[in-house]
Amino acid sequence: MPAKKVTYASDFMSPMVAFLLPYAEWKSERGLSDVFWREFVLRMNWNGYRAGCFVNTLDAGLLTRACIRCILACAALFLVTTGCASSAAAQTTMPPSTSHPAKAVRPSNAQLAGANLEARVNRLLRQMTLEEKIGQLVQYNDNGDAIVAPPAAGKQGALAAVNPETANHVNAMQLAATGQLGSMLNTIGAERTNTYQHLAVDKSRLHIPLLFGADVIHGFRTIYPVPLGLAASFDPDLVVSLSHMAAEEATTAGVRWFYSPMVDISRDARWGRTVEGAGEDAYLGAAMARAYIHGYQGDSLSKPDSVAASVKHFAAYGAAEAGREYNTTDMSEIRLRQDYLPPYQAAVEAGAATIMSAFNSLNGVPASANPFLLTNILRGEWGFNGFVVSDYTAVMELMNHGIALDPATATRKAITAGVDVDMMSHFYDTQLPALIRSGQVPLAAVDEAVRRVLRVKFATGLFEHPYAQGTEVTAAIAAHRPLTRKAAEESFVLLQNDKLADGVPLLPLLPTRKRIALIGPLADDNKDMVGAWAGAANDRDIVTLRQALAQRAQQSGVTLLYSRGTDIDDTSQAGFAEATEAVRAADVVILALGESGAMSGEAGSRAHLDLPGNQQQLLEAVVAAGKPVVLLIFSGRPLVLDWAAKHVPAIMEVWFPGTEAGNAIANVLFGDVSPSGKLPMSFPRAVGQEPLYYNQFPTGRPPTGIDLSKPPTDGTHFFSRYIDVPNSALFPFGYGLSYSSFSYKDVEVSKNSIPLSQALANRTKPLLEASTIVTNTGDRTATEVVQCYVRNLGASIEQPVRSLEGFRRVTLAPGESKQISFPLGFNELSFFNAESKPTVEATHYTVWIGGSSLASQEATFEVVSRTHAADSH
Ligand code: BGC
Repeated sequence: MPAKKVTYASDFMSPMVAFLLPYAEWKSERGLSDVFWREFVLRMNWNGYRAGCFVNTLDAGLLTRACIRCILACAALFLVTTGCASSAAAQTTMPPSTSHPAKAVRPSNAQLAGANLEARVNRLLRQMTLEEKIGQLVQYNDNGDAIVAPPAAGKQGALAAVNPETANHVNAMQLAATGQLGSMLNTIGAERTNTYQHLAVDKSRLHIPLLFGADVIHGFRTIYPVPLGLAASFDPDLVVSLSHMAAEEATTAGVRWFYSPMVDISRDARWGRTVEGAGEDAYLGAAMARAYIHGYQGDSLSKPDSVAASVKHFAAYGAAEAGREYNTTDMSEIRLRQDYLPPYQAAVEAGAATIMSAFNSLNGVPASANPFLLTNILRGEWGFNGFVVSDYTAVMELMNHGIALDPATATRKAITAGVDVDMMSHFYDTQLPALIRSGQVPLAAVDEAVRRVLRVKFATGLFEHPYAQGTEVTAAIAAHRPLTRKAAEESFVLLQNDKLADGVPLLPLLPTRKRIALIGPLADDNKDMVGAWAGAANDRDIVTLRQALAQRAQQSGVTLLYSRGTDIDDTSQAGFAEATEAVRAADVVILALGESGAMSGEAGSRAHLDLPGNQQQLLEAVVAAGKPVVLLIFSGRPLVLDWAAKHVPAIMEVWFPGTEAGNAIANVLFGDVSPSGKLPMSFPRAVGQEPLYYNQFPTGRPPTGIDLSKPPTDGTHFFSRYIDVPNSALFPFGYGLSYSSFSYKDVEVSKNSIPLSQALANRTKPLLEASTIVTNTGDRTATEVVQCYVRNLGASIEQPVRSLEGFRRVTLAPGESKQISFPLGFNELSFFNAESKPTVEATHYTVWIGGSSLASQEATFEVVSRTHAADSH
C-alpha cells in the first residue's frame, strides 16, 4: 500500500492551503450537532486504522521532504489559483492585461463556504489516502449490468476509444466499495443508486457517499418543454417552478446532481444544441440561467429534494464554427464577455454548485484545459467555489486537440487549469499518482479539487441522507401535469395568423369548423414530443395531439380525420393520397410537421434547416387542396419556413412540448389560452444567413434605404446585403403574435442625462427608468411580453444595433392599459472596453420598448462627463 504514506503529507499541508483560500471569514450555516455522529464514526475508524498500520509511520527525513514539497505545492497552487502561473498565462491567447484576475472576490455560494464546513472537509481530507482522494475526482458512466470486459485482442476500436470504461475494464461497483469513486453518471433509480451508495457508505473505509448525476434537462418523469421552448415563454418564474419539480422527482430516484442548465448562447440554428439553451441573447440567457439554479438548488442545497446544478458547457461551446457539433470557437475577448459569458456568470452568482467544462477549444485553448476560463475568470473574477467536472471524456480529448501527447500531459493540463473531476476519461486515476510523485502536479492541487467535491457533498447533505428520498417517482405525476401544460402553452410562438376571406384570423379555431383533418408525422407521435433529452420519461405518459383532439372532438361533436401522410424523414409519397383525401373532406387542416427529437440536441447539427424528408412536398400537396391550414412546427431550432410563410395562413412553433404536448396544443388551437411566446432565436429566410441574430453590429456600406427584397440593380450594389434574400430574419428575435393585440405609447426615460461619474460610481442601483404604456387593444384577455432594447452610440468600442436589457410578462384584460417600467443601471448600460473591463462612457443611448426586437417607439438620453449635468426631471 505505498500511497498511504502520502496521506500524511496532507495532514499538515491542508491548513496551509486553506490559509491561502478566502473562505475563512464565511460563517457556517450549520452547527456541529448534525455532523457529529458521522464524524465520530469516521474518526474512530481512522484511529483504529492508524493504530494497525505501522508502515505508515513517517520518519524525520520524509517529514522534512514532505514539508518542503508541501510549501512548493502550496506556492504552485497559489500561483495557479491567482492566475499568475506562467504556464497558465502562456496557454491563454487573451491579452495579458486581462489574464490576471482582480483581487479575491466573495465566494459565489455561501453554502459551500464557512468555518464548520471547512473543518469537516479538512478533517476528512486528512484521513484520505491518495487513492481515496483521486477517487473523489473520477466519475464513470453506469453501463447497467453489462459485463465490462477488455476489448478483444487488437480491437481497440473507435467505440473503445470513446468509452474508456469498457476499454479499461473499470468496475465501478468495486471502486465504490474501495473508496475510489466519487460520482456516477446515469445511475438512476432508487434501487440502483442505493446499491451503489451502500457499497460506498457501508463498505468503503471512509464511508464517503457517491454523488449521482444525470442529464435531467427538462424534466425527469414529467417532461416540460425543451429549454429553447421554455426560453420562448420569457417567464423565469415558471422555469424556477419547473426545475424544482424535476428535482423533486429525480431525488426520489437517488439523483442529486443535474447536468443542467445548458446556458451556451447559440446564434447559429445549424447547431443542434440550440434546443438545450435559451437561444441567442445574453440577457434572456442570464435570466433563464438564474431561474434554473434557483429551481434546482432551492433555498438550500441540503434539502432532500434539492439537486446540485452543473452549468454547462463552459465556455462558448454554442459558437461552434459553422454550427458543427464540437467544433472550434474563436472570438475576441470582448465578444466572449459581452455575448457568451453573461449566462454562466449569472448562474455562478445564483450559487451554482458545479460547472461542466466544454469540449470545444476557445481561441486555441481547449476549454477543459483552459486556465483563463477555469481559473482566472471562473474562480478569480467570479469567486466560483463549487467544483468543475469535465464533459464526457473531455480530458482524454485534450490529446485529440493536440495539446497533449500523452494521458499524463492531458491530466496535468486539465487539473492545473481547474478541472476537478474527470468524467469518463479514466485519466485522473491512472495518471495522477505518478504526476504527484514526480512533482508535475502538486498534491495541493489534488487536495483542493477533493475539497471542492467534498464541500458539495457535505452541503447537499449527502452524508446525512445518502439514499434515494421518499417514494420513488416512476411515471409522470398527475399533480405535475398542470404546470407542465401551462409551460407548454406559454412556450408556443404564433408566427402567423392571417385573416381568411371572412375577415377573421384562422386561429383560434371557430366552433363552426366541424371537420378537422389532422395530418403529419408528429400528430400522433409520443416519442418525439419530449425532444432530444427525454429524462426518464415513459412514452405512455405522453399525450399526443391526436389523443387530445380526439377527446375534444368527442366532447364537442367534431369529426376528426387523421392521416400520418409521411414519416419525419422519408422519401416515399405513398401516404400523400390518403392525407389529401382527408384534407378534402375537412373544413380545416392541422398539419403537424417538423424534426424528430434526435435531429437536434447533442450531435444534432444540420446543414439544411428546412423540413426534413419529404414533408415540404406533403405541405405543398395539402395546401394545394385549398383548405385553411394551421401549420404546427415541432423543432429544436429555428427552421427555414419561407415557403410556408407565403402560403399558409396560420403557423405556430411548438418546439417539443413534453408530457402534456397534445393537451397544451389543443388548448391554444381552440382558444382556451392565447399564445404568448416570443422567439428566443431569429428564424432565417435561408440557411445561408446563419449565424443570424438581432443584436448584430453596424456594418460598413450600410444598406439604408435600399429595397433588400429585390436583387441589387445599378446603384444598389456594394452594400452589406445578400443578393438573393433580404438581410432580415423571416421571424425576428422577440417576435410572436397573440389572439389579442397590443399597442404601445409614451415610451419615455426618467432622465435625459446622467453624469458619467454617477454611472461609474454606482454599479448596483438603477440610474434611470425607461417606461411605456401598453394597452390590450383586442377583445380578449391576453399576455404580452414587453421588451426593452438599448443602443449605445458614441462609445470607444462599436456596440450592437440594439440589445435586450429588460422584459416583463404582463396580462391585460381587453381595453386595459398598464405602465411598465424598466430600471436601467450600470449592468444594462455598460459595455466591455479595449481592456475587456465593463465600463460606461459619455455616450448617447436610445431605448426602444415594444413587443419584439423590431420595437420602434423610442426615447433617448445621454451619459455626460460634466459633473454638473442637470437631470431633466
Ligand atoms: C454532453 C453533456 C452531458 C454529458 C453527460 C456529454 O456528451 O456534452 O452535455 O452532460 O455528455 O451525459
